[in-house]
This record gives sequence, structure tokens and C-alpha cells, in this order.
Amino acid sequence: MCGIVGYIGLRPAQPLLLNGLKSLEYRGYDSSGVATILSNKNSISVRKSPGKIVALENILKKKPLSGSVGIAHTRWATHGAPNQENSHPHLDCQSEIAVVHNGIIENYVSLKAELIKEGHKFTSQTDTEVIVHLIEKFFKSGSLEEATRKTIARLEGAFAIGVISSKEPGILIGARMGSPLIVGVGKGENFLASDAPAILDSTRDIIFLNEKEIAVLTKDKVRVTDFSGKEIPKTPSRINWDITSAQKSGYPHFMLKEINEQPKNLENFLKARINKETNKITFQEQHIPEETLKNITNISVVACGTAYHAGFVGKYIIESLCAIPVAVDVSSEFRYRDLLIDKNTLVIAISQSGETADTLAGVKEAKRRGAAVLAICNVLGSTLTREADGVIYTHAGPEIGVASTKAYTAQLAALYIFAFYLAEIRKILPQEQINKYVAQLRLVPHLQQEVLKDQQTIADLAHKHSHFGSFLYLGRNINYPSALEGALKLKEISYIPAEGYAAGEMKHGPIALIDEYRAVVCIACESKVYEKMVSNLQEIKARKGKIITIATQGDEKIREHTEEVIYVPKCNELFSPLVVALPLQLIAYHVAVKRGCDVDQPRNLAKSVTVE
Ligand code: AGP
Repeated sequence: MCGIVGYIGLRPAQPLLLNGLKSLEYRGYDSSGVATILSNKNSISVRKSPGKIVALENILKKKPLSGSVGIAHTRWATHGAPNQENSHPHLDCQSEIAVVHNGIIENYVSLKAELIKEGHKFTSQTDTEVIVHLIEKFFKSGSLEEATRKTIARLEGAFAIGVISSKEPGILIGARMGSPLIVGVGKGENFLASDAPAILDSTRDIIFLNEKEIAVLTKDKVRVTDFSGKEIPKTPSRINWDITSAQKSGYPHFMLKEINEQPKNLENFLKARINKETNKITFQEQHIPEETLKNITNISVVACGTAYHAGFVGKYIIESLCAIPVAVDVSSEFRYRDLLIDKNTLVIAISQSGETADTLAGVKEAKRRGAAVLAICNVLGSTLTREADGVIYTHAGPEIGVASTKAYTAQLAALYIFAFYLAEIRKILPQEQINKYVAQLRLVPHLQQEVLKDQQTIADLAHKHSHFGSFLYLGRNINYPSALEGALKLKEISYIPAEGYAAGEMKHGPIALIDEYRAVVCIACESKVYEKMVSNLQEIKARKGKIITIATQGDEKIREHTEEVIYVPKCNELFSPLVVALPLQLIAYHVAVKRGCDVDQPRNLAKSVTVE
């Protein structure tokens, strides 16, 4: 998820573009850049820099850009490390066209090969650069608008783009498919942006572009067409949000926004990784040789906090699908333990930030002992991704809320498809079985969406239980780690003591905690351990514990054993952690809000723990 801004008008473009970028920094902040058509109108000039937008600002202070037409970009790298040449805008071979892009071009490898054969010179490792060279190719025989339209017809994947050219200095073009793009309508000026915060200082009249639409802007006019060129009349909507709430897309907190992003993220993640016809699984950045993966005899997962819980679910997935033993450790223990790992071990290091000190130290130790290291990470170019032998990026976009939510389900998704891939190359599962699992996994975004439709019920339940002094979370089998994650979410944002426990362990101690002052969240979806969970509910009810149960839609029987039920759609037990994660996140969120806690920046916590 990157941020793009465009301006065409009479005012100097640079300050407007820079200001717009700053309010989009929550969308990505590993590099940025600006391009304008210089006042003398016959050339484009670019300034770009790795790092936060302030780095670009310092460059522009020394070498400002003139001109009243320009585009700008703040990046969240997906293809090509965050550095100077990979930051946007990208130029064509003649530096007459500039492009900024948000999204992922899935067929960029084949397009790049084709363009290089035709003599185009590429300067970056990005997927984006194919766009500007395609426009250059088609611009030879038509207008910039036609060239952009022909280019779009060749692109597969998600994109929102901004295009300018010194050969047609009076227009700014935007197009969207899959990634958000809006037009800001001004007086004698118009804007393009990924999101409203970028332009609310200048206009509140916004046109939200729909899928497969192109906007052609001049300083006095906005024309919108579909990809075939058919005009689409548009009426701007007036936006009264303040910038902060706009950054949260109208949600009160980044955490709630990120919880609601999960179905779309999962859908995009699966689309980018699994071929829709053949179900072939591809990982662009996974460079551990298939031979090595075929010969490993055991797996060791190392991670912290929420990432550790994802890894714990991963143990259940990989052991059940790939029949390989999986050990799971918190990194701070792993790094000092006398590890029994060697070259036959695959170490899977999971980290949203890729900068967690204990996990990095664990990886160093694993490599010292000869193990291959696979990283599952959300931040491109982070230290972990440079240390690891192979990487699966979770592409969840920047996670601003300190409490990890969308990165967690993205980590789970990475573990599911890695397990399918491993089971396939090790010939553990026949392709038709893998096809069945893939088909079921592809349904999960819809099931998550179903859960999100019923947020108010969960909010009411959470508010009703927000006065409890401590919570217990119980789950069994693959949802035991889900219970651990539910408890962590509540602890870290509401400061209520909460413990996750394997429900079967209750009789061995924790049941002593149960009385009418204890709230107990039980995960009792349809599963091979359902009856066992029901007996745990009976044990707790008998001791007056206040139970909230997450159960499968249609399960009326469960109501005999629990006061409160949150129903989730029916799904294969194997994938249920991806579904139950959402009500668990929402319970924690709404309890914390009810208690007036700073949900996005809880006390004593940091988004990335870079010290031991
Ligand atoms: C989770 O909500 C917390 N922010 C924390 O436990 C986090 O999961 C842990 O610090 C690991 O961070 P990482 O995924 O960036 O390595």
C-alpha cells in the first residue's frame, strides 16, 4: 500500500504534493519522490529519496522543483528493495513521461522481458517501471491518454497510477483497478490522490473513481471514462472529514480499520500467490532451493508475540499437511537454548516488522548452526529479509496500530500456502487434495466478511463484559494458539489480565480461577474436539464463570452451555483460526474502547521491539 498524489493547476505543485505525501505517510514510508513538468514546460524533473518523507523534503529544500503540474509518491515496497532507484516516480527512456503507482503488477516479469527485447532500458527492480515504458511504446503513435489506455489493457494485477508527460504538459492522467484513487475538484486546479487526507487542505469536493476508470485532468476540467474510453459522468461528493479521521478512512482507530482490511488483504494475497487456473503456488522472493526443502527433516519456528501465535498455528497446519515435526519457540528463549538444529532443519522466522531484535538474534544462531532460514515478513527490505535465505512477504500493507491484527492473519495465510507448497513438492498430498484445500481457503475472505457484518453484536458483548477484572481464553487443537492470541490482544490494549489456555488443561489448575467474577472466552467452533470443548463449557458454567463462546452458525445446542454466543460462518476446522481471529480482535478492541484506552498506541508498548 503506497500513497500517490497529483496536481495540475496554477499554483506551484511542489509544496502541495509534499504536503499531500505527508498526510499519506501512514500508507507507506520507506521511500518517496516527486516529479514536475518544469515551468519552461519542455522537461520533467524528479527528486526522490529512500527513507521517510522528511528526507525528500530536505533534498527539495536544497534543489526545489518549479512547475504547476506534478505527481508524487510515498512507498511501501512490494517489489524491489526500498532504495533510490526503486522509489517512484519512474521515468521512460527519454525522461519525457513520469509514472507513480500503488498496487502490484502481477505480469511484470513477462512485460519487462518483452520491453527489454524492444530496446527499453530499465533502471529499477520494481514491477511499476514496466508501466512507464509501455506508455512510452504506445505514445509513439497516439496521445498520452490513448497510450495510457493501451498500457492498462496489458497490465494484470492491482494498480492506481498517476501519469504526466512533458510532451503533453497540460494534462494529468489517473487510472485505477484494485487500488483506491480519487480526484479532488478545485477551482482552476485539480488533484489526484490515493486517499482524501492528501488533498483536504485544498478541496473537499471529491470524485471517488470506481474500478476500471481513467480520469483525465486539466487545470479547468475533469473527464472520467472507463477503460474502453466511454465517458462516465461524475458528480463530486463533499467530504467533511478532518485529515486524521480521513487517514483512518473514517474509522475511529487504525486498529479497527486494519481489522476491517483483512478479507480484502487475504483475497489479494491468495490471488498474487496462487495461479487461478492451475492452483500453482509461487513465491517470488522464496529462494531456498526446492532440493533443500525436500530434504529437511524438521522445522523450527521462531518469533515473538502475535507472530509467535501465528507460528504456533503454523505448527498444526504443517504437521497435519506435510507430516514434518515442527517446534515453535519464542525468540528470546530460542536464542539462548541449546538448539538441536542443523542443516536438515528449516527455521521459519516470522515477524511483521522484520526488525525484532530477539528474532534476528535467533536467526543468526540458526544460520550459525547451518539451518536454512525462511522469513515470513511484512516489511520489504527489513533486516530479517536480508538475513534470511528465502522470504514470503505478507503484503498486509503498513500496520499502524501497535496491536497486530491484519499482519497476523496474513502470516497465517503465508503459513497455509507454504504448507500446501511443501506438501506438493514433497509429494505428501496429491494435487486434487491440495486443490480442495485451496478452494476452501479461497472462501475464507467471504467468511471473514460475514463476521465483520455483525460487528455491533460483538461490540455490545464486549461492552457488557468490559468491567471484568480478568479474562481466560480457552481453545483446543488448532485454536489453542487462537486463544493465546485472543488473550494477548486484550492484555496489550485494555490492560486487563488475560490468559490463554489449552482447554484440556483447565482441570490441572486454571479451573481454580473460575467464579462469577471471571469472564471466559471459549472457541468452540465445529471441530473434531467440539464435544471436548462443550464439556469445558459445562465445567465453567457449573462454577458460575461468565462465558462468551465463539461457535459455528446454526449451532443452537451450544446455547445450553453459555450465556453469550458469537456465531461465525461454518468452515473447515483447518482454516478456522483465520475466521475466529476477527471476533477475538474485535472483543479486545471494543473492551479497550469502552475502558477509554489508547487503542492504537497502548502504554508501555512499541510497534517494533528492536532491543533485547
Ligand atoms: C502484537 O500485537 C504486538 N505488537 C507484539 O507482540 C508483536 O507481535 C511482537 O513484538 C512481534 O513483532 P514483529 O512481528 O514485528 O516481530
